[in-house]
Amino acid sequence: MIPLPSREIAPGAVHVPGWLTLEEQRRLVRACREWATGPVPIRHTVLPRGGVMSVRTVCVGWHWQPYKYTRVAEDVNGRRVADFPEWMVGLGRRALTTAYGEAAGYTPDTALVNFYDGQARMGMHQDKDERSAAPVVSLSIGDDCLFRFGNTETRGRPYTDVRLSSGDLFVFGGPSRFAYHGVPKVYPGTGDPGTGLAEGRLNITMRVTGLR
Ligand code: SIN
Ligand code: FE2
Repeated sequence: MIPLPSREIAPGAVHVPGWLTLEEQRRLVRACREWATGPVPIRHTVLPRGGVMSVRTVCVGWHWQPYKYTRVAEDVNGRRVADFPEWMVGLGRRALTTAYGEAAGYTPDTALVNFYDGQARMGMHQDKDERSAAPVVSLSIGDDCLFRFGNTETRGRPYTDVRLSSGDLFVFGGPSRFAYHGVPKVYPGTGDPGTGLAEGRLNITMRVTGLR
């Protein structure tokens, strides 16, 4: 097998372009479509001070709402979220093996599926509602985006801007696990409809909640 060129963006933060095959992307799109319909349908998350996120989100395994994880989506329809599938655990382990050369017991138990239309953005934030420092595995499908990967101290510089395309893997763990990151821009019309996603961008982040 020819190894894909990957780039270390910061210590512990690895970008692997073109990691997912088109068939794997199609499978993920199908799975996300299914999750989007329920038991807890995809929706715009409402923030504690009344703001509404521009991305639409559906969760698997654990339900995320700002700023905690629960099994039941009290803020949507009171239903329990779909189970985290075993095949996604396998995918997460493969991602870690690609990024770091080993997966040492990595067992993600939640995934946040975010759908971005052409106008959606995500501000700089840390993923810190998990009680585990295990790496986050991010998979992108559809339109390209500008992904900003920063530092653990501030929302601002220094940061590195990376263009994430359909099929790309991005893993952040180790010293980069709690780095600020965000999506300042999506590039509409850049995705391959062959993924099954006619427009927009899908991002799936797998995490270990450390909850039980
Ligand atoms: C996130 O930070 O949860 C999403 C990142 C992305 O959409 O690439
Ligand atoms: Fe995040």
